[in-house]
Amino acid sequence: MATTDYLPPLFSVAPMMEWTDNHFRTLARLISKHAWLYTEMITSQALVHQTDNLDRFLAYSPMQHPVVLQIGGSELGSLAEAAKLAQAYSYDEINLNCGCPSPRVAGHGCFGVTLMLNPQLVGEAMSIIADNSDAPVSVKCRIGVDDHDSYNELCDFVYKVSTLSPTRRFIIHSRKALLNGISPAENRKIPPLKYEYFYALLRDFPDLRFTLNGGITSIDQVNAARRAGAHGVMVGRAAYNNPWQILGQVDRVVYGENGSEITRRQVLEKYQLYADSVLGKQGPNRPNVRDLVKPVLGLFHSEPGNGVWKRKVDAAFSKCQTVKSLFEETLVVFPDHVLDSTPADAPPGCEDPFDGIHNLLPSPYILEKELLYA
Ligand SMILES: Cc1cc2nc3c(=O)[nH]c(=O)nc-3n(C[C@H](O)[C@H](O)[C@H](O)COP(=O)(O)O)c2cc1C
Repeated sequence: MATTDYLPPLFSVAPMMEWTDNHFRTLARLISKHAWLYTEMITSQALVHQTDNLDRFLAYSPMQHPVVLQIGGSELGSLAEAAKLAQAYSYDEINLNCGCPSPRVAGHGCFGVTLMLNPQLVGEAMSIIADNSDAPVSVKCRIGVDDHDSYNELCDFVYKVSTLSPTRRFIIHSRKALLNGISPAENRKIPPLKYEYFYALLRDFPDLRFTLNGGITSIDQVNAARRAGAHGVMVGRAAYNNPWQILGQVDRVVYGENGSEITRRQVLEKYQLYADSVLGKQGPNRPNVRDLVKPVLGLFHSEPGNGVWKRKVDAAFSKCQTVKSLFEETLVVFPDHVLDSTPADAPPGCEDPFDGIHNLLPSPYILEKELLYA
């Protein structure tokens, strides 16, 4: 069983397909003890059809706790089954994806962000997941879809899901999704961030817990979001692309923990032992050296020599059979003081995107009578 004595999810790393796999989560946990880590999204259908192969999708090392399983889907039977199958793996929370705008996903009926248009179904889905799991449940969503983007519609969604199910925590990617054919990457950039919707939810649903997501690029901004009232902050791309500056500061700056900090050299030594121990374990060349080195490629973000190192790594893939040999061959480009430094303070003076946000909140939520008695 998962234990519950972790520190709360003040900071979490977002679910990211093909990025937050077991390898990246292992690296992330070596850097931060307390960050909550989300899996990549796994569809309930995939789990239900792979019952002989569940470890491949669901297994992770106990050192990764606290870890959250993100499920995608909307078919109640398979969501129930998926939650049941995940029980044996002791995830600390199960999260339903109601934010993914990928046409690959959104085209398959009600799935990802299109679920926001059917809060009744999401409420039923969350109930059924909760009924089949001991883990708490949460929803990750956007602030709207296409022209269903009023603050009241967002509130209707949150209200309905939280009254129909035991969902108490919502992760809000604070921009809407556009289903008009723009790519998933554009959907993480083009629709503007509206943090004022997020903070209005805190005001209008004081009994629920809300995690802010979208556009956060520094630990200063994480703390600024929390000072403005966010119960938690989830960071995606910045945590992946710059894990040292972001994750390296979480335990001290977000969780207030004093104590010795790890160096990049120590992280890489531990990660290499993990990586070489799983090399080829899932079949011929799976995972391979390239798969296992991918998560560490952001570790020297903006450090002098980073570009040279990445080119050396690229060249080394063809000859290095182990992660150890690849590290030995390439890390020589960095001087000892870079390898042996602990996470530095973030550069000061970042602008605070939440300054004055409480003056911008939309009008308070008006609950329509038909929802109240539905
Ligand atoms: C490569 C990639 C894959 C993603 N996959 C998922 C996913 O599986 N489930 C999900 O809810 N969001 C997914 N997202 C969205 C992120 O979880 C997050 O909401 C988004 O990137 C905004 O946060 P950020 O600005 O901190 O990156 C993905 C984002 C990226 C960049």
